Amino acid sequence: MYTSIFRLKNKTVCLFLALVTTFLIIKSIYGILMYKSVPILLWWTPFVEVERVIRCDNYSCLLTSDRVYKNHSRLSAYLFYGSRFNPTDLPIGLKHIPWSIFHEESPKNLGLFLYRDGQSVFNITSTFDQHSDFPVPLQYLRDIESLTSRQYYIPIEKKKNLLKNHAPVLYIQSDCNTPIERDMIVAELMKYIKVDSYGVCLNNKKLPDSLKESDVYSFPYHNLIMQLAASYKFTIAIENARCDDYITEKLWRSLIVGSVPIYLGAPNVGDWLPNNKSAILIGNFESIESLASYIIKVNQDNNLYLNYLDHKEKLNFGHQITNKRLINLLKRGKYGLEGNQEDVVPAFECFICRNIHTNGFKKQKQETVYSCPEPKSRNSKNPVRWKDHWKRGKCEGKVLKELLEQQKNYSKNDYEYKVDQYYKNNMC
Ligand SMILES: *[C@@H]1O[C@H](CO)[C@@H](O)[C@H](O)[C@H]1NC(C)=O
Ligand SMILES: *[C@@H]1O[C@H](CO)[C@@H](O)[C@H](O)[C@H]1NC(C)=O
Ligand SMILES: *[C@@H]1O[C@H](CO)[C@@H](O)[C@H](O)[C@H]1NC(C)=O
Ligand SMILES: *[C@@H]1O[C@H](CO)[C@@H](O)[C@H](O)[C@H]1NC(C)=O
Ligand SMILES: *[C@@H]1O[C@H](CO)[C@@H](O)[C@H](O)[C@H]1NC(C)=O
Repeated sequence: MYTSIFRLKNKTVCLFLALVTTFLIIKSIYGILMYKSVPILLWWTPFVEVERVIRCDNYSCLLTSDRVYKNHSRLSAYLFYGSRFNPTDLPIGLKHIPWSIFHEESPKNLGLFLYRDGQSVFNITSTFDQHSDFPVPLQYLRDIESLTSRQYYIPIEKKKNLLKNHAPVLYIQSDCNTPIERDMIVAELMKYIKVDSYGVCLNNKKLPDSLKESDVYSFPYHNLIMQLAASYKFTIAIENARCDDYITEKLWRSLIVGSVPIYLGAPNVGDWLPNNKSAILIGNFESIESLASYIIKVNQDNNLYLNYLDHKEKLNFGHQITNKRLINLLKRGKYGLEGNQEDVVPAFECFICRNIHTNGFKKQKQETVYSCPEPKSRNSKNPVRWKDHWKRGKCEGKVLKELLEQQKNYSKNDYEYKVDQYYKNNMC
């Protein structure tokens, strides 16, 4: 009795083990075949720690940072990360493989990309610009619900009580030297209206003990910072540069918590606001003084103030969000990314992979539009550092384009010397 059950058990176990082994063998053969047959994407910027096959809808690609593949017959794209792009470490003379750049960060992080020449060396672009091949303008806004949610929202009557303890306007920033001259604007605004500044820049107020300043920048949607921001009637949201579609958590955070943004940055921000009156746009005022008197007026007039909060209050249109462009992009997925991606980098990798399989790049347009004009200084005494950054960026792009056209290796010195010459002699 015992033995036969044991035998039966034994047989079942054997059969089970045999099945598992067969499955594993088939799986690894399949893996090896995939490995040996799919198109290769080479991150020239060392982004890939473990080489692997990625799956994007029905398509697969091998993702690697290993430069042994740099002229492999299945190599299908070079991938570069904008903020770490190194113009003197490139796959020279390999023009048959498309170069693709992912540059979601501030335009100030890659000077040579500010002008057409620098952009032209890439065949495929993914930036915050809505006209790039794989645009990521909403990388800081997860979904439409976060805009309409009242999770952090404090209605006006309650907010009024809180105002006894603090100013109507919130400012919190750690980068005090920006092309847009953010601090200069805020300092002037402070002459006319009370602003609580918790960050390093123009600091005049201490963060609550429970909140570390580094957390505010590392986790911009941290619960505590959301609660703090929600208690202010207005929040200053000024990007570090002025480029179309360059919109960060500074704007979205204030819209999510329901504090009216006082915004400067993307000139086309209206393309993305939930309603046509969701932010006070600094660019619409002739002076900071007139901006200040308008804020004071809105601060004193409940109806005027609530006009800015339709995405929470649903007062004017019967629905909370009227901007179709915003709604449609977010319908594609989280952060407006296609599919179920949560993160922009894998989404970009899949975009490249899918398009390689479907020959989609042939259909992409050639030129990127990336509108980040040279900053204008408000104050002639201000160092010309950022203007210089733009001017130099223009030279870097021109030099890079020329050097690449020669299809010969060049050294760091060659490149830098040429950039210096062009720059000094105004040749860009
Ligand atoms: C994947 O392949 C299946 C079957 O061939 C097809 O029905 C489906 O539409 C494909 N999906 C995509 C996203 O191409
Ligand atoms: C890359 O490979 C092709 C053949 O596949 C060869 O003709 C070419 O010379 C190679 N280029 C470099 C720079 O190694
Ligand atoms: C990519 O763009 C460069 C520069 O415009 C061009 O020379 C090259 O042929 C293009 N490569 C591909 C694969 O389209
Ligand atoms: C804002 O939207 C309303 C309703 O759609 C419209 O009547 C008004 O002209 C718009 N205002 C601006 C400045 O676009
Ligand atoms: C450039 O240098 C690399 C590494 O030294 C070499 O493999 C490659 O063939 C060179 N390319 C050209 C176009 O000279």
